[in-house]
Amino acid sequence: MDHFTSIDGTLHAEGVPLPTIADEVGTPVYVYSRATLERHARVFKEGLSELDDPLILFAVKANPNLAVLRVLQREGFGADVVSGGELRRALAAGMTPDKIVFSGVGKTRAELELGLDTGIAQFNIESREEGRELAELAAARGERARCALRINPDVDAGTHEKISTGKADNKFGVPLYRAGEVFAELAALDGLALEGLAIHIGSQLADLAPLEAAFGKIGTLLGELREAGHTITRVDLGGGIGVPYKGGETFPSPAEYGEMVARTTRDWGVQLVFEPGRVIAGNAGVLLTRVVRVKSGLSAPFVIVDAAMNDLARPALYGAWHDFEAVRDTEARMTANIVGPICETGDTFATDRDCPELAAGDLAVFRTAGAYGATMASSYNSRGFVAEVLVSGDRFAVVADRIDAGAIMDAERVPEWLD
Ligand code: LLP
Repeated sequence: MDHFTSIDGTLHAEGVPLPTIADEVGTPVYVYSRATLERHARVFKEGLSELDDPLILFAVKANPNLAVLRVLQREGFGADVVSGGELRRALAAGMTPDKIVFSGVGKTRAELELGLDTGIAQFNIESREEGRELAELAAARGERARCALRINPDVDAGTHEKISTGKADNKFGVPLYRAGEVFAELAALDGLALEGLAIHIGSQLADLAPLEAAFGKIGTLLGELREAGHTITRVDLGGGIGVPYKGGETFPSPAEYGEMVARTTRDWGVQLVFEPGRVIAGNAGVLLTRVVRVKSGLSAPFVIVDAAMNDLARPALYGAWHDFEAVRDTEARMTANIVGPICETGDTFATDRDCPELAAGDLAVFRTAGAYGATMASSYNSRGFVAEVLVSGDRFAVVADRIDAGAIMDAERVPEWLD
């Protein structure tokens, strides 16, 4: 459920008509709904209410905007971060180190040091090599870094191959068959307090079965590690629950997910950690855009909007579907190709799409753009970065300024020796 609804024929974000935002901030612009974020956060927490003291972290990569992070911090969420930049954002949004977990296969030495300086709750170590390096850095300070070992369970998450992370040939985690040996080596190092396991098999999962299979494997490993004398107090189950991008699609609810988790982890005796991203932020945002012009095409007209693949990369990158709706209600329909202004054919949001009839100057939205939207933007074609707005009731605020091509150019230099 979200709070983008039509009131008197005009699409609103909560109590704010989208044309008001377009007029004041310009287009394209990402618009987020605070009430939707809060609702999703609460439904997720409620889904896990059977568990004893779960640690719930928002996957910052899904939407790192500081205002969005603050909304979730106020809901009690911590942060799953994958870079020094995300760690700094989580802290700036008020998330405390005891609720920050650092994931990612390529943490640099400087990032490991930053995690140690900050005193984060947990490093999710992705390899023997990373574990050794972290141990050395922590031991040199006379510290023990709290960490979990990320396991690659070799499970097919059944999602797009580019966002699948739990197959044996993916770069993530330590393969299950090596887990015992790597865990034993790292647990013996002075600089590490290795007391956890972590897993994340992919994103936009339409089905709970692969998750359940992966959790089953982790449960078995947990038993084996304990039998070998290790202490395990935490298991991080990652993120991954999918959301509907197309009207009519259904996905597992947080309640169904929570029930499956409670059932599969019943006798684990650990604190569980969760890293949801998309399910919290996805439906809480839209990309508001204006039609530049409509051009005739061979099989269908091209509706050229002022948003492009640099602003919302998902369709070009994954062939992803985003529902496309007019801001003013209209009965008339058309079949169109929805494209941006960028100079490549990949800048196509939809092909032969049944959509409302639109003309130059009309406003429209791409739905479900609150996760992996603005954060994946680039400045390709020197288009700059779009603004972001947060709505709360009948108020709204610009929570990220538009960065135009001029500001980006200001960071560039032509060395004088070229002349
Ligand atoms: N934890 C880890 C270690 C992850 O790698 C991810 C996502 C998450 C949690 C959050 O997953 P979620 O709950 O959002 O599914 N750019 C892609 C999605 C990439 C996801 C990467 N990892 C897209 O636009 O679909």
